[in-house]
Amino acid sequence: MVGVRPGCYGNHLGRVRSVPHNPPIKTPAKTRRTRSRHAAPEPEARTDGRIERIVRLLTDHAMMVISGTKLAEELGTSRSAVWRFVQQLRGLGVEITGHPATGYQLTSVPDLLLPEFVKPLVKGSIFAERLHHYFRVGSTNAEAMNAAAHGEPDGSVFIAEEQTAGRGRGGHSWLSEKSAGVYCSVVLRPEISPADTLAISLAAGLAVRAAVQEVTSLVADLRWPNDVLLAGKKFCGILIEMNAEPTRVRYLVLGIGLNVNQGSFPSALENEATSLRLETGRTWSRVELAAALLKSLHREYRALAPGRGAHAGKPMAEIIRRFEDASSSARGRQVRVEEEGGYEGVTEGLDASGFLRVRTATGLRTVISGGVKEIVIH
Ligand code: BTN
Repeated sequence: MVGVRPGCYGNHLGRVRSVPHNPPIKTPAKTRRTRSRHAAPEPEARTDGRIERIVRLLTDHAMMVISGTKLAEELGTSRSAVWRFVQQLRGLGVEITGHPATGYQLTSVPDLLLPEFVKPLVKGSIFAERLHHYFRVGSTNAEAMNAAAHGEPDGSVFIAEEQTAGRGRGGHSWLSEKSAGVYCSVVLRPEISPADTLAISLAAGLAVRAAVQEVTSLVADLRWPNDVLLAGKKFCGILIEMNAEPTRVRYLVLGIGLNVNQGSFPSALENEATSLRLETGRTWSRVELAAALLKSLHREYRALAPGRGAHAGKPMAEIIRRFEDASSSARGRQVRVEEEGGYEGVTEGLDASGFLRVRTATGLRTVISGGVKEIVIH
């Protein structure tokens, strides 16, 4: 079981930090680019729009062979550039037959998280306007944090087919296999205080659960604060990072890693990680899941809006009630908490602020950020 680790309450307000229940993260892996000290951080290479257009052209003419010359003309590029893009797409598992001399044909609909495919499905939500796609990136959270620091608006989405330095909670990394999962970060600018971000964290878990149920009919379990589980194993993790003043969040980035079509995990993770495919024996459309997830997040985020003030009265109480209902471990579970020297007790629901309560031999305690591990009694 992956636990949450103690968080950070340093006096570094006004700077980037993680929320209490999402501990500080390691310094991101160095990129190959060099930057001047004061320059805006360069984003990693976002997906070339021409690749999207190739996919669109091939999808729109799915039964036809399109010549390399025609594609090159449509894109205003060379035939060799088209060939490179096609090779890149093949590397991502997109089935395209042919070569420059014969032309190209798509043999199956690609399950790529390209804005072209996702945008129409999330129309009407705050996530429909700015969707940034990467075939390969260090971390979508890192990209989104950099962009947010330079004014990226509320509702911007950063989504990748693969992450090479995916960040997990507590300084862990997040394994992000190519074309197997949904690795997605959204920039939010809610008018709340840092303490209220726990509501967003809990709501995000509920949003994932609803989206997965909508697409697969599977009913997932939640583990405080926001792990999403199937058959006791984690298939989705959520990482919130934020930049805040003492009383005001400037912006936060909500990162979601959803294991969809992974066929296996390294042995070290085998007992605690799973994917939708491993639980159901079939593959799932990542595009459909990503869209359902963004729409579900939109609903949760909007529902929080009216009570944006401290602990948001009804919305917060409502989130707590729904979280407790959706979590088999929020009540009556024997746990060990890795906080304040470590202690054991039985979970007793969430308090009015959304923190987990644990009944110990010496009284009721509130888990702020520590790792909560279930004690399995044989
Ligand atoms: C956890 O440890 O439970 C949180 C995992 C969060 C992983 C996601 S994948 C998309 C986003 N980008 C990252 O680098 N991390 C988050």
